[in-house]
Parts: sequence; structure tokens; C-alpha cells
Amino acid sequence: MLSLLKEQRHIQAILTSMVDAVFVVDAQARITLANKAAEHLFLVKEGALEGKRLDEINRDQEVSGMICQVLTSGKEVFTETTIRPSTQIFRVHVVPIKNQDDQVEAAVAVFHDVTEARNFDQMRSGFVANVSHELRTPLTSIKGFVETLLDGAMENSDTCRRFLSIIETETNRLTRLIDDLLSLSSIESKERHIQLRPVCLVRSMRGIMNIMGPQISDKELHVEFIYPQNLPRIHADEDLLGQVLINLLDNAIKYTPPKGKIIIRCRRRDSRLIITFTDTGVGIPRDSIPRVFERFYRVDKARSRHHGGTGLGLAIVKHIVESHGGEVFVDSEIGKGSTFGASFLTV
Ligand SMILES: Nc1ncnc2c1ncn2[C@@H]1O[C@H](COP(=O)(O)OP(=O)(O)OP(=O)(O)O)[C@@H](O)[C@H]1O
Ligand SMILES: [Mg+2]
Repeated sequence: MLSLLKEQRHIQAILTSMVDAVFVVDAQARITLANKAAEHLFLVKEGALEGKRLDEINRDQEVSGMICQVLTSGKEVFTETTIRPSTQIFRVHVVPIKNQDDQVEAAVAVFHDVTEARNFDQMRSGFVANVSHELRTPLTSIKGFVETLLDGAMENSDTCRRFLSIIETETNRLTRLIDDLLSLSSIESKERHIQLRPVCLVRSMRGIMNIMGPQISDKELHVEFIYPQNLPRIHADEDLLGQVLINLLDNAIKYTPPKGKIIIRCRRRDSRLIITFTDTGVGIPRDSIPRVFERFYRVDKARSRHHGGTGLGLAIVKHIVESHGGEVFVDSEIGKGSTFGASFLTV
């Protein structure tokens, strides 16, 4: 008797400590035992499940149906479903319990939350679909021009040259896309061991301004760099920081018409340095603002493609800045210009 009580206490302790919701029903589908997680899942008070049938508690018929099926067939069943009103996705497993005569006398139902895994799957397949689409566009164009050339257009040397130069542009686009994807995945895998060193943000920014010098003078842009003296250094991986600065400056240049103005500001706020890029460019429509840091998101696909953009630049920026413990932000008004910014922790 004592050992039976002890066993029950053990079972109770196991059930209580389980993250998965579990309950047992008798042959009439009445709940005889349920753990805390099950009470939470079905939004009932402690002890309120015992003695009830599931269909009296939850209007969702799917799981009640499964339980009946197991009690009559004696075979276990699995499914994946949501238990309304919750939006989580559960893998539900119902197993029969049989007596010595092989008759079903009860069943156990286990609810395992798989929401995170399913959301991840969805994100991954969305990403694959996006990548495939982005790769297909230049490939379709290359294929089209090659076919036209083979069909006879190559006989005319002017046409031939023009088509080949389009093919070259599209090939460059493909290369850039692959480079960006590789850089994104290398940041992802490097994330856990980024080498943070004290870096002078102003010096890095000057270096990037030199690199971008030709693009700036091509468009006759006026670029100002404003910062106070004696700024502290920041914790950063210098190469990754360079990628952030180059992407933000590149966008400011690309999306600002010739003779426009770009102001880069560095300032200190508490234990952070903030760098902002303000341009007098095309700006971003209000409803696109929250989306610009998403992978492959471009406000104006045609315009961005014309610049050779892949729509991965800001996704890379966000990824790097956040892996440094900082934040990115944007403010923009259509037709007036945009301000993009990033914060970094000071040494
Ligand atoms: N300074 C800016 N002014 C206006 N729009 C911008 C600016 N920066 C980014 N955008 C918008 O956000 C989109 C995403 O920018 P992102 O840098 O990720 O991609 P991209 O510039 O199109 O291509 P790339 O991957 O070559 O950088 C751009 O296509 C553009 O529509
Ligand atoms: Mg860009």
C-alpha cells in the first residue's frame, strides 16, 4: 500500500514537472488524470479537467475525435494541430492503455509544442523560395539573350556586343548575390566567436569614405562628416564594422540624386556610440519602413535592380550590428530623404 502511494507521488511529480501537456482518459473518454501544463493549455483551474470529457471543455473536435478513435480502434495516433484559442502548434500523440485481455481501458494524450520548429521551417522555406526567385531572374535574362544570339543575332556585331554586355551585367549580379548570401551565412556562423577589439569608429568611417570617393564624386554629392572630439572607441570586429558602414553609405549614395547631400554624424549616448547617415534622397514610403531590413526587401525592385542591388545589404547590416549588441534604426520621409543609424557599445 505504502509503495503504491509512493509510486503515485512519483507519477504526480513527473507529470507536474513536464513541459508537455498530458492527460489520461478512461474507456468513456473521461479525464482521470491531468498535469498542470494541460490545465494551462485548456485554460482551466486546477483540478477542473478531472471527470470531464474533452469535448465539454474545448470546442475543438479534432483531439476529442482522436481520443475516441484510439479508444475504439486500440491503435495509437499522431497529429499536428492548434488548440484554440491558443495559436501554438502542438504535436498530439494519443496512445491506448490495454488490460491483460488486450481491451482498451484508457488512453494517454500528450501535447508537445512544436511552434518554434514549424515557424523556423516556414522561414527557411520562404528564404529558399526568395533565393531561387532572385537567382532565376538574371538566369532567365541570360538564357534569353544567349538564345537570341544563337538564333542569328550574333551575325550583327553591334547587336552581339550589346547583348553580351547585358549578359555580363546579369552575370555580375549573380556573382554579387552569391557573395552577399555567403557573407550573410558566414556572419551567422561566426556570430558566436566574433573577435571584438577596441576600434576607432571615426577612423573606420574615414577609410570607407575614401573607398567610396569615386562614387561620391561621380554623382557630385556633398558629403559631410560631423563628430565631436575625443569619442571613446567601440567594441567591434573591424571587417564587419566596415561592411556596415559601406552598406549604409552605399545606400545613401545610390538613393540620392546627383548633387544631393549626405551628412554622417557620430555621437555618444551613455555607453554607446551612434552613427547616422542622413541623405536628401528619394526617401522610403511609410509602410515600407518597417520592412527595409528584411532579406531581399526592396522598395522599388526595378530601381534597385538597375543599381545592381540584391536587397541583402540592410539585412547584413542589421545582422552584424545586432551581433555586436547594438541596434539599427531608420527614419525617412518620401521625397525628402532618409536617416539610417546604428549603435555600438563603447569600450
Ligand atoms: N538611403 C536610402 N534611401 C532610400 N531608400 C533606401 C535607402 N537605403 C535603403 N533603401 C531602400 O531599402 C531597400 C533595401 O536596401 P538594401 O541595402 O538592403 O538593398 P539594395 O540597396 O537594394 O541592394 P544591396 O543588397 O546591393 O544593398 C532598397 O532597395 C531601397 O529601396
Ligand atoms: Mg544597399
